[in-house]
Amino acid sequence: MTNRTVSVTDSETGKTIELPIMQGTVGNPVIDIRKLQTELGYFTFDPGFMATASCKSQLTYIDGDKGQLMHGGYSIDELAEKSDFLEVCYLLLNGTLPNSEEKHEFDHAITHHTMVHEQINSFFRGFRRDAHPMAILCGVTGALSAFYHDSTDISDPIQRMVASRRLIAKMPTLAAMAFKYSNGQPFNYPKNNLTYAENFLHMCFAVPTEDYVINPVLASAMDKILILHADHEQNASTSTVRLAGSSGANPFACIAAGIAALWGPAHGGANEAVLDMLAEIGDRSNIPEYIKRARDKNDPFRLFGFGHRVYKNFDPRAKVMREECHKVLNQLGIKNDPLLEIALELEEIALKDSYFIEKKLYPNVDFYSGIILKAMGFPTSMFTVLFAVARTVGWVSQWKEMIEDPMQRIGRPRQLYTGPDLKSYIPIKDRD
Ligand code: SDX
Repeated sequence: MTNRTVSVTDSETGKTIELPIMQGTVGNPVIDIRKLQTELGYFTFDPGFMATASCKSQLTYIDGDKGQLMHGGYSIDELAEKSDFLEVCYLLLNGTLPNSEEKHEFDHAITHHTMVHEQINSFFRGFRRDAHPMAILCGVTGALSAFYHDSTDISDPIQRMVASRRLIAKMPTLAAMAFKYSNGQPFNYPKNNLTYAENFLHMCFAVPTEDYVINPVLASAMDKILILHADHEQNASTSTVRLAGSSGANPFACIAAGIAALWGPAHGGANEAVLDMLAEIGDRSNIPEYIKRARDKNDPFRLFGFGHRVYKNFDPRAKVMREECHKVLNQLGIKNDPLLEIALELEEIALKDSYFIEKKLYPNVDFYSGIILKAMGFPTSMFTVLFAVARTVGWVSQWKEMIEDPMQRIGRPRQLYTGPDLKSYIPIKDRD
């Protein structure tokens, strides 16, 4: 809290109240508006929460103007270069980087929770083979709460920790099972001698007929992709998890709600939409037409992978992703990938276009991720599933922070009612 206040005066009544200003470690100060209702009888109005801080948080900070992202004070660039995904998970869950003993214990715990109950396999059989993997992941994740009654009491910190670790550990296994189910191949069990990223690639791409050899460049790229997607302040899916959790719902149900919210093409579904868009553009000669459409207010077409609610400068994750993109394509010997060629030219043209400059629309994390994932062998339908695997740690960390926040209450926004005023019911015989 600061000593600063803002005065609000009702021009009709002349009543003035002082609202306190709160300042975080860095970033925009906030006005504590709670007295507005009790003293002036007003709500605030902010569709899309463009200017609303829903909570205090210590996990992640984004500086949209500088194009900076940090977790626990560490920049995403440094974490992507020097850390690994499980270490970032530990950082988000605990607020500090682990020492070697803590890292070993955490890695061991996650590794030994990667298996799912054998009965879970039956859930997959109920889906059609062409079911979207996100539909499967959403359903099966919610079903986990039926198997882990020993970690659904959210008031117990031990159960919160166990549920968090189970979700981080099992999401790759469920995601890989959804992938295998969609292509008719047998499920692979996790292997405890592999790293988190290696294990995920193994479960996705190993087949019983031959040994699966981990490609270290792809494993490293996958680990970086997971780090880049781990957490991102109060985005739509994280806010969904917090809101679901504020009612006391169990963590498995809350994460299933987060998966559902992530699926939308304006959010995590954008990586899949980027690949579909690049395929639709088809050739670099068509780019000007699509830029024109993106600028046209009357055309619903948007340039997927561009723009962000917070970043009004380059998304720092997109920069790392672009570097990884070149590494992976080189490693795989993919020269002149047509989609990458279109993406690179689209980025170059868009960044010089007056509309994109004026609207401060830069490539976001989703612009390059799809190209890497496609090169690795994932179908576009799996892209948002991978985002969900990575973001699970962000969701559980934010969920845990919400429950442990002494200010925490059930989330229940108000509204500006514009419907009809009170009127009497008219029996149908009098309505004809
Ligand atoms: C993610 O919140 C997060 O942190 C999300 C995320 C995370 O890690 O959790 O970062 C992950 O979701 C990244 C974003 C992926 N989505 C896309 O790439 C879809 C395309 N982008 C847009 O839909 C849009 O930019 C959003 C949804 C990302 C942001 O929407 P906002 O903040 O509500 O901004 P807006 O839609 O109001 O756009 C502002 C202006 C509008 O023009 P005006 O109404 O002011 O005239 O910019 C225009 C928009 O029409 N605009 C675009 C555009 N994005 C915004 N025009 C063309 N192409 C685009 N991509």
